[in-house]
Amino acid sequence: MDINEICVVGAGTMGHGIAQVAAMHGYDVVMVDIKQEIIDSAFEKIKASLNKLAEKGKFDANKIDDVLERIKGTTKLEDAKNSDFVIESVPEVMEIKQDVFRKLDEICHREAIFTSNTSALSITEMASVTKRKDKFAGMHWFNPPQIMKLIEVIKTIDTSEETLNTVVNLAKEFGKEVVICKDSVGFIVSRALQAFVTECIRILEEGVASAEDIDKAIKLGLNHPMGPFELLDFTNGIPVIFHAGEVMRKVYGERFTVPQTVRMLYYSGRHGRKSGRGFYDYTKGEKE
Ligand SMILES: NC(=O)c1ccc[n+]([C@@H]2O[C@H](COP(=O)([O-])OP(=O)(O)OC[C@H]3O[C@@H](n4cnc5c(N)ncnc54)[C@H](O)[C@@H]3O)[C@@H](O)[C@H]2O)c1
Repeated sequence: MDINEICVVGAGTMGHGIAQVAAMHGYDVVMVDIKQEIIDSAFEKIKASLNKLAEKGKFDANKIDDVLERIKGTTKLEDAKNSDFVIESVPEVMEIKQDVFRKLDEICHREAIFTSNTSALSITEMASVTKRKDKFAGMHWFNPPQIMKLIEVIKTIDTSEETLNTVVNLAKEFGKEVVICKDSVGFIVSRALQAFVTECIRILEEGVASAEDIDKAIKLGLNHPMGPFELLDFTNGIPVIFHAGEVMRKVYGERFTVPQTVRMLYYSGRHGRKSGRGFYDYTKGEKE
């Protein structure tokens, strides 16, 4: 199927970056969120990112305006009516995602393909509220979407071969590397990451070492570019780890129990860099 217009639902941390990537590759994009100020802030972030890419010689500065013009920001989901491909990136809560897809199923044309950028939730469960289970797949991007090379494409038992090929080909057109994964909670990366960060937090909670030393050990000992706590703060990942842990524990058992520290940070609103605090303090600008 020809894709002319892509709808990205949710213009937050991931959604605005995904909209940018799609527009940079020549697609018309409808970027939906619930509040105009979120849309405005998404455009500011996209502009800043495009300027940075241009400064580094990775994007033609003369094309920045064209990219911005291709993105239509809106608070009305109905504006997705002509979209051929949807990438949903609203919060990691099944009810919110199902509500969006239930509405989109009525709004979008019959051939439109639906994908979710969920980090861990069941794609099959999301698709169950639509009448297009064969045109539904997972498209799991990584943060930041403009930079990260990988997209996990998730197929359910209902996803058609044609849909799978369309999603894979689009991801490749965006310059991404693709892995295909069956619909299972956490897919590949989130499941592995959840187990890894959970154990690092337990090392911290047991008083075995400080957050700084755990980060340093993982960077130098395992050659990771960031330590687990730096990574969670950088990606504002506390809500993601909190919700994903709850879901994974139900499926895989006690080993995925969410540590107390994550609950504390989640409920106190210390979600990472964006909120000023996470495992570290950013209220003075630099990490402390
Ligand atoms: N942050 C990450 O590192 C990361 C990485 C990969 C995947 N994900 C997944 O991407 C999804 C979004 O995560 P995020 O970090 O961008 O969250 P976010 O909170 O930054 O953005 C979500 C956006 O969705 C909007 N929203 C809420 N309800 C909506 C609705 N009904 N219609 C339209 N917009 C709505 C919110 O206003 C918000 O702007 C989640 O499923 C998450 O698991 C996140």
